[in-house]
Amino acid sequence: MRRRRDHLFLAAIVVLLAAAGAFHAGAAAERQAVYVGSETCGGCHEAQFTSFRANSKKAHSYENIRKMQKKLTPEEFRGCFKCHTTGHGEPGGFVSIEETPALQNPGCEVCHGPGSLHAASGDPADLTGRVSLQTCAKCHSSERVAAFGFKPMLYAGAH
Ligand code: HEC
Ligand code: HEC
Ligand code: HEC
Ligand code: HEC
Repeated sequence: MRRRRDHLFLAAIVVLLAAAGAFHAGAAAERQAVYVGSETCGGCHEAQFTSFRANSKKAHSYENIRKMQKKLTPEEFRGCFKCHTTGHGEPGGFVSIEETPALQNPGCEVCHGPGSLHAASGDPADLTGRVSLQTCAKCHSSERVAAFGFKPMLYAGAH
């Protein structure tokens, strides 16, 4: 009788552990930062946002590819998204102008990383990105980066 109770007790623990595991997996998924768009960042970083919109070509870059859309096949046009929008091909990134209008230009998050967690908490520790040469090289080829002198241009007219 005693053994049987032990077994039941163990079974109950196994069920509880499995439930806790599932809960943790859910929490981890929720902790995955996604892209929110520059305007959301501007809610708390007004100076950076105002300067970015006024001075950075990135802030208006979708317009540059849109102008060329007619001359491109839909597939070629989608090929532009990787560099001329925010987070294309990544969780919560740009999909299309209709579905994700807030991510239509390369915004704050192409340099600072997806910012949903930080934008919700205001905690710098929740920022996933660290700005480095590799960050830029994803879109600016290393020859281009070397040519325009990386260090002084790190802010890219953003702020
Ligand atoms: C709810 C307000 C809020 C929003 C929205 C917000 N931030 Fe912040 N952010 C803060 C606060 C508060 C700090 C810490 C104080 C400071 O540096 O201004 C901070 C700091 C930062 C820093 C400096 C981090 C460091 O380690 O010093 C960066 C970069 C940043 N935010 C980028 C962003 C980006 C990109 C977005 C949009 C995805 C964003 N923030 C949205 C409140 C916010
Ligand atoms: C997601 C792609 C992407 C990333 C990452 C990226 N850029 Fe850019 N950047 C662009 C595009 C696209 C343009 C051209 C915008 C246009 O004119 O349509 C551009 C333009 C520029 C310019 C031209 C001047 C201006 O006002 O915009 C500079 C300088 C620049 N980027 C520097 C950087 C630096 C430095 C980094 C890294 C810290 C970086 N960029 C990261 C895509 C990117
Ligand atoms: C691998 C990243 C990347 C891809 C993919 C890409 N671009 Fe760009 N594009 C850039 C960068 C970076 C710049 C900024 C200027 C430079 O460094 O030469 C730029 C600049 C431009 C400009 C000049 C904007 C200005 O300031 O006048 C146009 C137009 C443009 N791209 C159109 C396109 C189109 C159309 C596509 C898709 C067929 C495309 N790009 C794909 C990275 C990219
Ligand atoms: C082209 C890359 C790039 C873009 C785009 C960009 N930043 Fe930054 N940002 C930087 C760099 C580089 C730093 C210096 C700190 C570092 O290395 O992380 C920085 C620093 C900051 C800081 C810390 C305080 C300061 O001003 O130094 C804040 C806040 C910030 N950025 C917010 C923003 C917001 C909001 C946007 C969009 C409106 C934005 N950034 C767009 C590159 C960028």
